[in-house]
Amino acid sequence: MTTDVVTMDKIVSLCKRRGIIFPSSEIYGGIGSSYDYGHYGVLLKNNVKAQWWRALLQERDDVVALDSAIIQHPRTWEASGHLAGFTDPLVDCRTCKRRYRADKLEDGQCGEKPSKCPGQGPNCDLTDSRNFNLMFQTTVGPVQDEGSTVFLRPETAQGIFLNFKHYLQFARKKPPFGIAQVGKSFRNEITPGNFVFRMREFEQMEMEFFVPPDEAEQWYEFWKQARYDWYLKLGIREDHLRLRPHDADELSHYSSGTSDVEYLYPIGWQELEGIANRGDFDLTQHAEFSKQNLEYVDTASGERYLPHVIEPAAGADRATLAFLCDAYDEDQIDGETRTVLRLHPALAPVKAAVLPLVKKDGQPEIAREIQAQLRERMQVEYDEGGAIGRRYRRQDEIGTPWSITVDHQSVEDRTVTVRDRDSLRQDRIAISDLGSELERRLRAPWQSPKLGSD
Ligand code: GAP
Repeated sequence: MTTDVVTMDKIVSLCKRRGIIFPSSEIYGGIGSSYDYGHYGVLLKNNVKAQWWRALLQERDDVVALDSAIIQHPRTWEASGHLAGFTDPLVDCRTCKRRYRADKLEDGQCGEKPSKCPGQGPNCDLTDSRNFNLMFQTTVGPVQDEGSTVFLRPETAQGIFLNFKHYLQFARKKPPFGIAQVGKSFRNEITPGNFVFRMREFEQMEMEFFVPPDEAEQWYEFWKQARYDWYLKLGIREDHLRLRPHDADELSHYSSGTSDVEYLYPIGWQELEGIANRGDFDLTQHAEFSKQNLEYVDTASGERYLPHVIEPAAGADRATLAFLCDAYDEDQIDGETRTVLRLHPALAPVKAAVLPLVKKDGQPEIAREIQAQLRERMQVEYDEGGAIGRRYRRQDEIGTPWSITVDHQSVEDRTVTVRDRDSLRQDRIAISDLGSELERRLRAPWQSPKLGSD
C-alpha cells in the first residue's frame, strides 16, 4: 500500500489557507459542521460533478437529466418511508446535556471529559435511546397549520421517482434507462463531523436506473463495477478504494442488496457512494399513495410491469474530499517542504497558470496574450505578484498541473517554459502550440504520481 503524509488536519488547513473550503458564518463564530466552498473549491467540486455528468450523459445514451425541487409534496416522504423510518437512535446525557448517536458512541466525545467516549466518564448519565427523525421540517405559505408542513429533501432520489411518469411520456425512453440528478440534500445529523464528510447540508449525485425486473441483478453488478471504475479513472489509487457489500442487518428498508464504494480516508475506510438494488419499492409506494399508474407499458408487445431500480448514490462533497485526500502530498525542493495537490488534471481547479518572470520588458503583455488565448479552451489564471518560486508553490497547493513562464527569451522567439507540477520538468514550447499541447496532456491517460513514490 502507498504510504501517505495526509491527515484530516492538513487537508482542513490547506483548504482554509487557499480558500478551497472553510467554515461557514465565521464572522458570527461559525455554525457547527457547515462549510462554504471558496473560488478553488467551487471549481474543483464543479469538475467532480461535470465528470459525473459526463460519465452518465455524454458517454452513454440511456441516461437523461433532471433537476427537481428541493421542497416536494409532503406525501412524498410518507410514501418513501422517510417520515416513519428515516431515523437515527439518539441518547441524551442528563449531566452535560449533550446528544449522541446511540449506535456511534465510540465516535462521540464526553461533554465533561473529551478524552472519553459518552457513557465512560465518571458522571455520565445517558438516557435510553429513542428514534430521532433526520428530516428538516419547515412550513410553506403565510399560515402555519398542519397542511403547511413540508420537509427539505433528505435525498435527491425521490424527485426522480415523482417524475418517472413524465419521462416515460416525453423522454422517449424504455427500460433499461436512467434518470440522473445532482443537488443539495439535507439531514439533521446528530453527530456531523470530519470536515465535509458528514454535514447537515450536502450535495448528492444520484441516478435511478429503471430496468425490467428480470434484469435487475445483472444491472446491479454492472453499476457497482462502473461506479468503482469511475473513481479509478479519475486517479484514486486502487489500494485506497474498495467495494463492500452490506450485511443483511445494514440494508435500508427499500434495498434487497447494497454495496458501498469505500475510500480509505485519513479517518479510515468510509462510504463514498452506495449502489443499491431498490427493487420496485419506490414505484409501488408512489403508485399507491398517488393513485397513479406508474407501470411501463410496451406498446408493441402489450407487456406491462413496474420497473425495478438500481441506484448509484454518490456524495459530491465526499467525493471532493476523497480526491483532495488522495492528491495531497509533500516533497522536498531546495531543502524546503513543498505541499502539492497531485489532482487528476481533469479535476484540477485551474489547468494552467501564466506567469511573467518580471513585471516589465514586454513580458506581462505576452503573458496576458497567452491567458486570453488559453481561456477559450480551459480555466487559466494570470499571476505576476511575488517571486517566481512562491508563485509556483501557490499553484502547487491548488493543484495546477502546468505553470507557463514568460521570460526574456519569450520576447525574442515567442516560446515559453511549461513546468509540470509533478515531475517538475520544464519544456520549452512555442506559444502558438500551447493550446493544443495542453489539451493533448489533459486528455492523456493519467495515474497518481504517488503510486511511483514508494
Ligand atoms: N438515495 C440513497 C441515499 O441517499 P445514502 O447512502 O444515504 O443513500 C448517498 O447517501 C451518498 O450521499 C453517501 O454515499 C454519501 O456520499 C452522501 N451523504 C450522505 N449523507 C451525507 C452527509 N451527512 N454529509 C455528506 N455526504 C453525505
